[in-house]
Amino acid sequence: QSKRLFPYSIALIGFMGTGKTTVAMDLSEKLEMEYVDVDILIQEKMEMTIGEIFENYGEGYFRKIEKDTIKELSQRNNIIISSGGGAVLDQENIINLKKNCKVVLLKAAAETIIKRIKGDNTRPLVKGKMHLEHIKDLLDQRKAAYHEAADIIIDTDDKIFDDISKEIVREL
Ligand code: S3P
Repeated sequence: QSKRLFPYSIALIGFMGTGKTTVAMDLSEKLEMEYVDVDILIQEKMEMTIGEIFENYGEGYFRKIEKDTIKELSQRNNIIISSGGGAVLDQENIINLKKNCKVVLLKAAAETIIKRIKGDNTRPLVKGKMHLEHIKDLLDQRKAAYHEAADIIIDTDDKIFDDISKEIVREL
């Protein structure tokens, strides 16, 4: 049972490597709320990794499952949702998340992102393209959507995850 029963859920959005998963797990402990990771749910549903889904069925199919999963989760209250970095690319996902959630945007500079995700090849959109220009391009394409969706914006550069989640709790 949750100690602190919010009348809403909390959704973490933001680019790859901004710490959504780690912060969601930490928040889940601090607030004693259940934590759900959209990418993990998708992988369980499909019994495949995100990389395999992209490879076998393409990005469009992944986005469809992502949309269905976000829609299902958006019906639930009092959970912490960690979304994938591209979830905001679809207006319907933003609408669904905003129905029941305080939406928290985690931000980081391209330089920070590269440091955090370098060496991790589980992300198809940056696999083999782990360089600053590519990250900056993707960030530019998505910036407006991230900001449109956000209720709370948190900078994560040069911060440890414990401080990031404390900052979120103060802003809720
Ligand atoms: C994606 C981010 C990934 C995952 C997929 C696509 C994106 O999630 O959903 O690889 O479009 O930015 P993380 O943000 O958790 O890495």
